[in-house]
Amino acid sequence: MAKATIPIAIFLLAFFLLIFSISVKGEVVAAEPSLELQCNKAYGVKSGDTCFALAHTFKLSTDHFNFINPNLNCSALFVGQWLCVNAFLT
Ligand SMILES: *[C@@H]1O[C@H](CO)[C@@H](O)[C@H](O)[C@H]1NC(C)=O
Repeated sequence: MAKATIPIAIFLLAFFLLIFSISVKGEVVAAEPSLELQCNKAYGVKSGDTCFALAHTFKLSTDHFNFINPNLNCSALFVGQWLCVNAFLT
C-alpha cells in the first residue's frame, strides 16, 4: 500500500512543479521590457474636454485610455495638451 503512494506523490510533485514553472514563465513574458508603447495618433485638448468624454469619443475603454497616457492627470487637463488616442506596442 505505502509502496504505491510514493510514485503517486512524486507524480503529483512533478505536476505541480510543471504548473508552477509555466506560471512563472508567463509572468516573465508579461513583464518583457522590450515592449514599448508608441503613440500612433495624438489629440490636442479643447475647452470642455474630459478624459471620460475623450475615451468615449475615440472608442477606448478608460483602462486603455489611461494605459496609453501613463503620466496624465485627468483632474488637470489643459487646453492644447497633447493626449494619445491610438497607440501600439512595439
Ligand atoms: C492632479 O491635478 C489635481 C489638480 O491640479 C491635483 O490636485 C492632484 O494632486 C493631481 N494629482 C496627481 C496624481 O498629480
